[in-house]
Amino acid sequence: MAGGSIVTQVGGKEYPGNFTLFVAMACLVASSGGLIFGYDIGISGGVTSMDSFLSEFFPSVYRKAKEDVSTNQYCKFDSQLLTLFTSSLYVAALASSFAASSLTRTSGRKWSMFMGGITFLIGAVINGLAVNVFMLILGRILLGVGVGFANQSVPLYLSEMAPAKLRGMLNIGFQLMITIGILAANLINYVMSKYDWGWRVSLGLAGVPAFIITIGSLCLPDTPNSLIERGHSEQAKEILAKVRGTKDIQDEFNDLTTACEDSKLIKSQWKDMLEPRCRPPLVVTILIPFFQQLTGINVIMFYAPVLFKTIGFGDDASLMSAVITGVINVLATVVSIVVVDKYGRRVLFLEGGVQMLICQIAVGVLIGNAFGTSGVGELSKTYSMVVVGCICAYVATFAWSWGPLGWLVPSEIFPLEIRSAGQTVNVAVNMFFTFIIGQVFLTMLCHMKFGLFFFFGGWVLIMTIFIFLFVPETKNVPIEEMVLVWKNHWFWRKYISESDIHVENVEMTKKSHVKTP
Ligand code: BGC
Repeated sequence: MAGGSIVTQVGGKEYPGNFTLFVAMACLVASSGGLIFGYDIGISGGVTSMDSFLSEFFPSVYRKAKEDVSTNQYCKFDSQLLTLFTSSLYVAALASSFAASSLTRTSGRKWSMFMGGITFLIGAVINGLAVNVFMLILGRILLGVGVGFANQSVPLYLSEMAPAKLRGMLNIGFQLMITIGILAANLINYVMSKYDWGWRVSLGLAGVPAFIITIGSLCLPDTPNSLIERGHSEQAKEILAKVRGTKDIQDEFNDLTTACEDSKLIKSQWKDMLEPRCRPPLVVTILIPFFQQLTGINVIMFYAPVLFKTIGFGDDASLMSAVITGVINVLATVVSIVVVDKYGRRVLFLEGGVQMLICQIAVGVLIGNAFGTSGVGELSKTYSMVVVGCICAYVATFAWSWGPLGWLVPSEIFPLEIRSAGQTVNVAVNMFFTFIIGQVFLTMLCHMKFGLFFFFGGWVLIMTIFIFLFVPETKNVPIEEMVLVWKNHWFWRKYISESDIHVENVEMTKKSHVKTP
């Protein structure tokens, strides 16, 4: 299997490291950065389907939706202005992730988390008090800046804090918080849709998760990796001993110090990133978030209420269905937390790809069968239930595969000196394609109709093949030894020369059973 069976051998040594209360608490607090992102993803879909919100800010969409009852189901909600409201956040997040990159590297991971929290807080207040579209979009841009900072720093923080053997589990805390944020937003929307002023509460409550990460980040220690990189070696040693729960940390400390020495040699993270040795993580980090968005997940996350309305559910029923997908999203994420360090990233990616593909084909066939290309038709109750069932199975699969892994893998594959810039690439690509999907989905639904589900299915097939061939297993590999994973990979090895390997005390124990496809 392509690159799959080598990694447990990499490095030939293991670092001691327990699951300490200290590491658990630090990771729990940092993960709460995911709440702001998740709350945001969940809130806009519900709010933009509330009549009081639409009639106040987007009266033309409101009128069209009300008048259009008997026409094409696929095209009812097609409004660029409405999608711009949803998507503006992602453009702001993209831009701010670049600023976050230098702050995270030069001042430490925690200050980027703090910046994320505080800007999000201000955005939430402006949104809750909005009296015109300008305030709505301004607030949303500030939320975006907050998301950019948080998503850039939190996954790095988690991956660096965690002992190698638990890195997957602890990092996925971030995705778990994203899903909890989405669910909380769905529930709040469900209740608030009953009140005319409900949208204000929905938008304003974003301040709660923002408050948690703002205060939480002030209480967190920085990661040993970042402390050493910024010249605080003694403090780093103390923190490392504390998070690992043992004094036996010298090997790991040496690896971190070696990585930091390399780090001091570089002039610009961005220039270094173009060197051949960085090609493998760079290519993987560009493609993973791109593919993650091309699974089509955010069609469900942003537009679940609209989508469920489209397939014939009433207002209340459609929000309720969004709540159900929200619960499934949280529960299925727990599955990946439990298995990711045991079975590895590749198994989840590959299984997830196959199962998502099946679900997408099923939804496409069911919707096409009911509405054809004219978009006119009605679904019986049982039929609608089957469609919702397939959508739920799809959400569950995403939640244990591409969802968490889309944040975990890019945060663990770069060398220290460009890890921060690497994570910015991840956030920027993710946000860019989230924006594109958010912006064009309703138009695509209108033109491609049920074929849209086959479109995303095609991408899922491509990404699954990509993982099979080009993404090596990274479970249990110490983060500062990742270069060895690339060195042992059938394709990427040509980009890594012996002089790029500065890991301490390593005997590379490449086993003869390593096969190339
Ligand atoms: C993705 C988001 C998505 C969410 C759904 C995240 O990993 O980046 O775009 O909305 O998962 O749970």
